[in-house]
Parts: sequence; C-alpha cells; structure tokens
Amino acid sequence: MSEILATFRARTPGSAARQDRAAAVMPGGDTRTTTYHPPYPLTMASGEGPWLTDVDGNRYIDLLGNYTSLVHGNAYPPIVDAVQGQLARGTAWPARNDAQVELAELLAERVGSVEQVRFCNSGTEATMLCAYIARAVTGRRKVLMARYGYHGSLEEYEVGTLGHGGPDTVLARHGDVEDFGQVLTERGGEIACVILEPVMGSGGLAVAAPGALAAIAERARAAGALFVADEVITLRLATGGAQALHGVTPDLTAMGKIIGGGFPVGAVGGRADLLAVTDPRAPRLIHSGTFNGNPITATAGLVSVRELTAERIATMDRLAERLGGRLIAAAEACGLPFSLRRQGSLLQCFCRGEEPEANATRDDQDLSTALHLAALNEGVFFAGRGLLVLNTVLDEALVDEVADRLGAAMASVMAEQAVAVD
Ligand SMILES: Cc1ncc(COP(=O)(O)O)c(C=O)c1O
Repeated sequence: MSEILATFRARTPGSAARQDRAAAVMPGGDTRTTTYHPPYPLTMASGEGPWLTDVDGNRYIDLLGNYTSLVHGNAYPPIVDAVQGQLARGTAWPARNDAQVELAELLAERVGSVEQVRFCNSGTEATMLCAYIARAVTGRRKVLMARYGYHGSLEEYEVGTLGHGGPDTVLARHGDVEDFGQVLTERGGEIACVILEPVMGSGGLAVAAPGALAAIAERARAAGALFVADEVITLRLATGGAQALHGVTPDLTAMGKIIGGGFPVGAVGGRADLLAVTDPRAPRLIHSGTFNGNPITATAGLVSVRELTAERIATMDRLAERLGGRLIAAAEACGLPFSLRRQGSLLQCFCRGEEPEANATRDDQDLSTALHLAALNEGVFFAGRGLLVLNTVLDEALVDEVADRLGAAMASVMAEQAVAVD
C-alpha cells in the first residue's frame, strides 16, 4: 500500500468504519456522485469558519465550501443568528413569506437581466425549470449546451456532461461562437434554449473569450431559441454575476449555491414575459415545490448575498491569485507537473503541464488522486477533481498555510513517485 494511502487510512478509522455502515444502506456508502473518492470519503462532524473537522477529530482548512455554496465559510455567525431567529418562528409555510420577496428583490437589483424570480430547491431544479420554460414558450424540445458542461442532474444535461448528445441534447464546443452558430444554423428550429456556464465550473474552469457569450446569445435569439446563463456557481464572481463580467444579457439565469446561505436552494431569474408561464393566475407550466422559497433558506440567502459585497469578492480574488502563484512555485520546487486555471475565487489544479480542454478529457488522474489524498493528510479539503474554492473568512495567513500544506502534499506525491520508479 502506498505511504499516502496508508497515512490516510491510519488517520481516519472513524470514516472507514462509517463507510461500511453507510454502504449497507446507501449505494457505495454515499449519496452524491461527486463527493465520493477512494478508498472512502470522510465523514464530517462539524464546520466552523474556514475549518472542517472529521469524526476522527482531524481538522481541515475548507477549500471547497460545499462545492462553492458556503461563500462565507461554515456556520457563518450572521447567518446562524438570522436562521435561529427564523427557526423559532417556523420553517416552512404553504404561504408567501417576506424574506422570499426580499431575496427576489435583492437578486433583481443585483443581476442586470433578472426582472423576476421563481425559487426552487437546487441548481438542478433551476436549470430544469429553465428548459421547461424554454420549451413552453418556443414549442421546441431540444437544449443546446457545451460538450462536458455541467448543469445538474436532469438527463438532458447529464448526457452532455458525459460528452455525447442525446435525443433532446445537442452539443457544441464551450465558448466557440462558430460551433454554436453552425449548430443553430443547421438545427435552430429544434432548439428551445442554449444553456451555458460563463465559466465551466465542474468542467475544469474553461472560460469563454470576451464577447463570445454575447455572440452566442445573439445567434440563439436569431434562431428563435432562448439564451440561458447557468450562474449556479459563477454568481460569486461579481455582484452582478459573471454575465456582468461578460457583458451578456441572458433571457433566463439559473442560480443556486450562494443564494441559499448554505441551505438547499435554486432560482430562475429573467425576463418577466418568459417567467409569466409560471404565473399561478394563469399557469401554462405547473411549477410547484413544497419548500420553494421557504423562510429558512430565504433568510440565510439574504444574509449571504447581502454580505457578498464587491469589496469582499475582490479580496477573495486577490487571495486566490496569491494562492495560485504559490502553488505553481511549490510544484516547480518539487518537480510535480502542474498547471492551473483561475477565475476569481475558483482555482482548478491539473497535475499535468498543460491544461486540458475540460475535466472530462484529463489524463492526470493518478497524480491528481494522489495529490488529493495527500492534501487530506496535510489537512486541506478540496474537490477530488482539483477544484479549490475560497471564501470570505479566509485571510492571507491562512491562505499561506494552505500553500505550505499543499506544498508538503505535492512533495509527498513526488517522493512516492520516486519510490515507484525505483
Ligand atoms: C453550473 C451548475 N449548474 C447546476 C448545478 C446543480 O446544482 P445542485 O447541485 O444544487 O442541484 C451545479 C452544481 O454543482 C452547477 O455547478
């Protein structure tokens, strides 16, 4: 057994025992495809600010924030206080609540293209609702998305994530205006919407060139299709979302993660005339959900979004840039083949000299799996696919500590490589 794996097992007997117990009642012992990693994922016990603690008492600097949702870290006191107040007054009612309306107002105020909002409970529900609205208004069925893009668990999108189309899924190359344009010219009459992430969050942080999204949006509209921005991750990149950075005005925007302050959430925002298909006074589309806009999520989301100011976004971005530079230097120092992409507070690491087109086309699995496990041994928690995510409660000292710990993890990966070669 490798040294890194042996250390991981020795540090985490509690998680190992829970894997066996969990696997008896949940396939593979987990309930999210992305959070599983071999030999077994950790079981967490608590989170506080930038720290996570597992059931064995190991502490980790949290560089994932529940896959970009916890933009203010774990158990952020202003969110905890607000939610505790709301908990005592009730958790969900079959009626409107004020926090829900205030959150909708805040999103409409911040995100240029958002005139009205419908809430749901996950990013998956949000992107699904975008497709359903697009189908209802265009009378067409197909979605056009980027190959290897990720828009949640709706089957029409999942086949695109895997890189092959499907009966209702058409693919083009991310950010490639010509490719999208050609598909829209040839098959535009079948396409209800074009859905794109300004930055491929799960796909490896590939970003569209300046002007590309606006050009694709224009071609979509010329073909009679809607242009949907999936900002479930990228809303954290600017107060107006990545659409403000890219100068594009989508017809619909899917939102999630940070707008729930750590609670399950999703929302579709956009043109009032399109969202009108969900108007309960004359619904053309039944959009219901027992927990849509519930006061707990809305209360937490309000604090989360209000406190994500332009200044705090700029600080996170600066810290991410610092971390990226230090990681490249650490990799160079120990000879690890390494490259990274950064978009704002998001960093995507690759254990290869050149960045691949997308995560799905990577060939650095062995090294990156070893680095992930070695990082856990050093007390840094990030996504198995190499995504590091900053939050507003990290400071320079802690970011430097992350760099030092990851430098040690890289060195242990290279030491193991050397043994393997001997
Ligand atoms: C771009 C994007 N869209 C949609 C989703 C789905 O959101 P959820 O996991 O809340 O269903 C995700 C989740 O990571 C995402 O990254």
